Amino acid sequence: MYKMRDNLAVSYKICKSMSNYQVKVQPQDKLFSVQQGETVLDAALRQNVGLPYGCRSGNCGTCEVTLLEGRVSYADGIPTGLADPDYDCLPCQAIAGSDLVIEAELVEQAVEIQPHTMPCKVQSHEQLSHDVMRLMLKLPENQRLQFLAGQYLDFILPGGEHRAFSIANAPHDDELIELHIRHIEGGKFTDFVFDSMKDKTVLRIEAPLGTFTL
Ligand code: FES
Repeated sequence: MYKMRDNLAVSYKICKSMSNYQVKVQPQDKLFSVQQGETVLDAALRQNVGLPYGCRSGNCGTCEVTLLEGRVSYADGIPTGLADPDYDCLPCQAIAGSDLVIEAELVEQAVEIQPHTMPCKVQSHEQLSHDVMRLMLKLPENQRLQFLAGQYLDFILPGGEHRAFSIANAPHDDELIELHIRHIEGGKFTDFVFDSMKDKTVLRIEAPLGTFTL
């Protein structure tokens, strides 16, 4: 009998320690859950809650929100981008230690994301068919691209011309930017991609663009 009660107590403790916390975003009253060990931002993006962000590494401060209720912790100490640890938190690094209430301006429309011009490096490229190349692009250290499904980017060519391509990866999966580039015979940029581009090539992009989102 005692053994059974002990087992139940242990199971309860395990369940409790693995339980999710709830995060409420004010003033929209939007709710999402955070799994154990997951950052608040990762959880929000996984559930299509558009918290704003930039670097996702605790440096830029773009994701800073007001912490109205609850406790958070940071695996590597207070991040450099957090200006006011007493009242605010950085969701890109914050781990919930209780249910949370935060105040934030959500990014729900493309017009709310400012496009930027930035360099990026070709991390890898792979020919998927005779005329389609998959490109994986990496942004500079401490930089991520926030975008909405359906948006695209422009490559800026050396002469200033632009070439537009849809972003193929899901918005929450933004460690690399994935593009599927179709070869246009005689096209200046796609000829370059198919004939001579190498991994580690540095390109210039403007992103995210487009207001037709899904
Ligand atoms: S996204 Fe840059 S500090 Fe959180």
